[in-house]
Amino acid sequence: MSKKAFIFDLDGVIVDTAKYHFHAWKKLANSIGVDFTEEENEQLKGVSRVKSLEKILLWGNKSISEEEFAELMTLKNDDYLSYVNKMDESDVLPGVKEVLDQLTALNIPIALGSASKNAPTILKKVKLDKVFKSVVDGNSVKKAKPNPEVFLKAAEQLGVSPKDCIVFEDSQAGVKAANIASMVSVGIGDKNILHEANYVFEDFTKISSNFINELLKK
Ligand code: BG6
Ligand code: MG
Repeated sequence: MSKKAFIFDLDGVIVDTAKYHFHAWKKLANSIGVDFTEEENEQLKGVSRVKSLEKILLWGNKSISEEEFAELMTLKNDDYLSYVNKMDESDVLPGVKEVLDQLTALNIPIALGSASKNAPTILKKVKLDKVFKSVVDGNSVKKAKPNPEVFLKAAEQLGVSPKDCIVFEDSQAGVKAANIASMVSVGIGDKNILHEANYVFEDFTKISSNFINELLKK
């Protein structure tokens, strides 16, 4: 049995911010005459801010100047932050604290692996900023998921081999990234959407302490 580590995505895994991203992108897209469905929104999950706007423009067949691009990114983020600013500890998704507490009690290293540049702000808001031994987020990676850079960097910082890392992810891009990194992928959400994950749970309340213990034994 080798030393294991757990890597958590943030948006849609630890907190329900995936819905805020969706609302903010939809409002912004609509303001420039583009619309997209909830199904298409799956392609925006786990994807960086820049890549998300590129996809939306592609869907709407729009081309804009660099200045407009930067302006739209700011508008989206300001709108998104208006939701984030209202968050507190109660916004940590059900069952997440229990898993974090179990791992902390066992002295298992845990990292955050998120595409978001807002990750440090959100962790502070929900009072989880002291829990992660390593935080790798949109401010420290160059390549967006499904590129495995974010997870490989987290594994390196924790000093654990990628194959001994277990990743919790709600996005197709993130599950792909974990798989490419040869990590164990645990999807949080719909098993039809996250079918590439090694395991899928609807949410953290469905993850038993036994399941965590089994992963630790592998
Ligand atoms: C990911 C979200 O975690 O972070 C994406 O799933 C989001 O929807 C991305 O676009 C970047 O987030 P932010 O907060 O830097 O705009
Ligand atoms: Mg996510």
